[in-house]
Amino acid sequence: MSDKHIPADYIEMDIVKAERFDKKVKDNFTSVIISTVKQITEDYGVLEGVCLDIGCVTAVFAIELCRHSKLKIYALEKEKVIYEVAHMNIEKEGLTDKIIPILGDAHELPFDNDFADFIIGRGSYHCWEDKIQVFKEIHKVLKKGGVGLVGGGFGRYVTEEELNKMKSLRDRSLKENAKAYNSHDILKENIKKANITNFRIIYDKAGLWAEIRK
Ligand SMILES: C[S@@+](CC[C@H](N)C(=O)[O-])C[C@H]1O[C@@H](n2cnc3c(N)ncnc32)[C@H](O)[C@@H]1O
Repeated sequence: MSDKHIPADYIEMDIVKAERFDKKVKDNFTSVIISTVKQITEDYGVLEGVCLDIGCVTAVFAIELCRHSKLKIYALEKEKVIYEVAHMNIEKEGLTDKIIPILGDAHELPFDNDFADFIIGRGSYHCWEDKIQVFKEIHKVLKKGGVGLVGGGFGRYVTEEELNKMKSLRDRSLKENAKAYNSHDILKENIKKANITNFRIIYDKAGLWAEIRK
């Protein structure tokens, strides 16, 4: 088994480390990102309107989602140095009119109520210090008729081999925090405590997800 892991300690990074981290994310997670975006497009159709990507890291997911939708994506990241690399990636891809990087914290979303048609939070749920507060924010910012998708997973199009490799890489990188993506009861409780009633939990090969509707 490889001892490779992806650092999850974003706060410590300077720009050089953040660019190296971005390369690791691209090298290791591109297939997962493609698989998850394919799944989203299959489940929700070609999405349109305003999207919020919570914990966008270096915008790799937002860039792939942008290519397969008609969304205008606000990509939110709380670590300044990671946000700067996201900005660079968006510029490199020529997508500055479609993806807007935002430096901010999910605990206090810097958007109006009823702002987003689609909210995605892939792989950032384990980082949120007050998960109930973030769910309240998501619900507030979601438009009526919109969908929020929060959780972690690798998409249903990864092979069995990739799935096992990714799970093991995630467990080594996130350590104790990786449990967040196996604890469907806790996810459900957190959403209920945020006074959200219209939701369902999806827990299958594609990972653990909460689909929130308003
Ligand atoms: C594992 S990465 C997310 C991966 C990315 N969404 C993807 O699907 O490839 C988690 C990211 O969430 C960010 N993050 C954690 N807590 C956050 C918060 N409260 N507000 C905004 N971003 C946050 C971290 O800084 C990190 O860049």
